[in-house]
Amino acid sequence: MGKKYNPYDEMLQVLDRAAEMLNLEEDDYIQLKYPERELKVAIPLRMDDGSIKVFEGYRVQHSGVRGPYKGGMRYHQNVDLDEVKALAAWMSFKCAVVNVPYGGGKGGVTVDPTKLSKGELERLTRKYATLLYPVIGPQVDIPAPDVNTNAEVMGWFMDAYSTLEGHLSPGVVTGKPIEIGGSLGRGEATGRGIMFVTREISKKLNFSLKGAKVAVQGAGNVGGTAAKLLFREGCQVVALSDVSGAIYNEEGLDIEEIIEFLQAERGRLLKDYNTPGLSRISNEELLTLDVDILIPAALENQLTADISKNVRAKVVVEGANGPTTFEGDKVLEDKGVIVVPDILANCGGVIVSYFEWVQNLQSFSWDEERVNNQLEDLIVKGFNDVWNTAQEADTTLRMGAYMVAIGRIVTATKMRGLA
Ligand SMILES: NC(=O)c1ccc[n+]([C@@H]2O[C@H](COP(=O)([O-])OP(=O)(O)OC[C@H]3O[C@@H](n4cnc5c(N)ncnc54)[C@H](O)[C@@H]3O)[C@@H](O)[C@H]2O)c1
Repeated sequence: MGKKYNPYDEMLQVLDRAAEMLNLEEDDYIQLKYPERELKVAIPLRMDDGSIKVFEGYRVQHSGVRGPYKGGMRYHQNVDLDEVKALAAWMSFKCAVVNVPYGGGKGGVTVDPTKLSKGELERLTRKYATLLYPVIGPQVDIPAPDVNTNAEVMGWFMDAYSTLEGHLSPGVVTGKPIEIGGSLGRGEATGRGIMFVTREISKKLNFSLKGAKVAVQGAGNVGGTAAKLLFREGCQVVALSDVSGAIYNEEGLDIEEIIEFLQAERGRLLKDYNTPGLSRISNEELLTLDVDILIPAALENQLTADISKNVRAKVVVEGANGPTTFEGDKVLEDKGVIVVPDILANCGGVIVSYFEWVQNLQSFSWDEERVNNQLEDLIVKGFNDVWNTAQEADTTLRMGAYMVAIGRIVTATKMRGLA
C-alpha cells in the first residue's frame, strides 16, 4: 500500500523545491514550514431531537507576516488538522502571489453538513465562532466561505462574533450576504478569477477560448461559476461533475440551465439532472477526457500520479486547492501539460474578500463593475508576475507562483526583523 496522502507534506515538498530555485538558505524560510498557531476545538451541539453530539473543529494561522490571517472555513466529514494546516499555508502563498496585505489561515469542522438540519447548522456555526473568538477579529484573522459553507453561514458567524464584541463587526468575516456588509461580486469572485486566468493562459498559448473544450470537476461555488462564465465566453463545456457523478455531452452542455437547476433547491445534485444527448461518466473519466482545458474544482488529491498519466487536457487550471499531488504534478510536467496552479488560479475569492473587508472598514460600498474591474486588474497582474518569473527561471507556473509568493514573504520577514 502507498503512503497515505498528507496535504501538508505535499505543501512542504513544493515549498522546498521553490526555495531551492530561489537559492534560499533554509534559515530564510524555515518558519514557513511551521504554522504560527494551531487551535483545535470541541463543539458541543444540541441536535433537534434533544441529544448532544460533539464535533471537532480547527483554526490554523500559518503566517501573519504580511497582514491578518485570512482564509475560509470548511465543513466536511474528512476535515483533519493536516488538511487545515495545508490549506492555511496555501492561503499565505495565495495572498502573497496577488499581493494583498494578508497572511494565511484556514478553519474547518469535521462534519457532514448534509446530515444536519438548518437549525443544527446554525447552532454549530455560532458555537464554532464563540470558540474561535479569542483568536479572530477584523485585524487578526478573517474567515470566509469554503467547501460546504456559504454567505448564510458567514452571516451567522458574524452575528455570533458581533454579539460577543457588543457591536456590529462586519469585518470579521467575508463572503457575507450583501445586506449585512457583503460585497457585490464576492459570490462569483473565485469562478470569475478562474475565467480571467484561463483567458490569459489561452492568449499566452495562442488558442481561442471560443469553441475550446472544457471539463470541470465540481459544480459548487467555484466549479459551477467557472463553468458558467467560460460558457459565456464561448467555451464548449463538455463535462461537469459533483459528488453524485459526472455528466457529459460531446456537443457541449447548457451550463446556464444546469446551474439554474442546481441552485433551485438546497442539496440538488447532478444525478437528478437530465436532458437529451447527455451521458453519465465517472469522475475519473472526466479528469482524463480529451479536452483543451481541465478545471478540477472540487477537492484536493484528485490528479494523482496514476490519473495524471492519462490526462489528455492541454491545460489544467486548478480551481480547487491542492487538486494535483506532488507526484501527479511531475507527471503532468513531463507530459508538457501546462498547469495554472491553485495559489494563482483560485485567488479571485480572496481578492474580492479583501475588497469586502476594505469596504467594511470604510463603511462604504463599491458597485459591482468596480469590484469586477479591480479583481481583473489584480489577478491579471498576479498572472503576469507568475508567468514572467516562470519564463525567466525556465520552470513551471507552479514553481513561478511559489517563487513569487515565497520571495515576498521572506522579504517582508527580513524587513520586519523576525528572522
Ligand atoms: N469558495 C471559495 O471562494 C474558494 C476560493 C478558493 C478556493 N476554493 C476551493 O475550491 C474548491 C471547491 O470549493 P467550493 O467553495 O466550490 O465548494 P462547494 O461546496 O461550493 O462545492 C464543492 C463541489 O465539489 C463537489 N464534490 C465534492 N466531492 C466531490 C468528489 N469526490 N468528486 C467530485 N465532486 C465532488 C460537490 O458536490 C460540489 O459540487 C475547494 O478546494 C476550495 O478550497 C474555494
